[in-house]
Amino acid sequence: MRKTSARAPIGVFDSGLGGLTVFRALSRRMPGESLVYFGDTAHVPYGSKSPQSVARYSVEIARFLAAKGIKLLVVACNTSSAVALPAIRRAVKIPVIGVIEPGSRAALAATRGGRIGIIGTEATVRSGAYPQVLRALGSRAKTASRACPLFVPLVEEGWWDGQVTEEIARRYAVPLRRARVDTLILGCTHYPYLKPVLARVMGPRVRLIDSAEETARRTQSALKEAGLLAPAGRRGRREFYASDAPERFKRLARRMLGPGVTRVRRHSFGS
Ligand code: DGL
Repeated sequence: MRKTSARAPIGVFDSGLGGLTVFRALSRRMPGESLVYFGDTAHVPYGSKSPQSVARYSVEIARFLAAKGIKLLVVACNTSSAVALPAIRRAVKIPVIGVIEPGSRAALAATRGGRIGIIGTEATVRSGAYPQVLRALGSRAKTASRACPLFVPLVEEGWWDGQVTEEIARRYAVPLRRARVDTLILGCTHYPYLKPVLARVMGPRVRLIDSAEETARRTQSALKEAGLLAPAGRRGRREFYASDAPERFKRLARRMLGPGVTRVRRHSFGS
């Protein structure tokens, strides 16, 4: 973390609105930190793309944010965290934090019966990243995974609740209920938008794990260890970028974060 200043912002990115769940957790935990968010709305959804494309987009964004002078990068996207973390780390010289390990730790702390369900994009589920990380953390929990490709478009469309969304969630939940999972990892940062629906569908005995909180905690301790926490008593700045349709992004981001989202700039990069 050489040459970086504690006043520098933290960079956060996702394919679209999903990473705002992590952005919100970071901003609540560390109101003094400045944050720069990038939503890759030109390429959403990442979940149905090849690992090569996801890595290419992720590296472009990481470089763009690094050029803005960020002190740390939070990859607030499970798909990128699952398939592109090594490429991102090679591309930028700042610390990079993904969401999969923090989410896995939170699930291990929450599970009572050792039956962990994982929902995520097709790419994340196919990568096997969660079961691998859980095992690497010494877990012997049984896992059941399910890709839920319709969830991201529903969230990007603003359909965060309602009958159609609930019916889709109910169908996706069938194998997870059958596997009698006691804990469910929301392995995509878009899914916390659907928490009320997912809680209804899974029932009160299943704990829903949203990695946002745990990721924010991890970010805070990484900055603390490096002596890079923002000076106390200041209020952080917020900056937003989208690779396409920034006005649309702004409208939905305000629904999530409130009227503080006053401006979203467009920044596009090669396809
Ligand atoms: N929110 C992202 C994730 O956590 C990406 C979803 C997508 O674009 O398919 O996986």
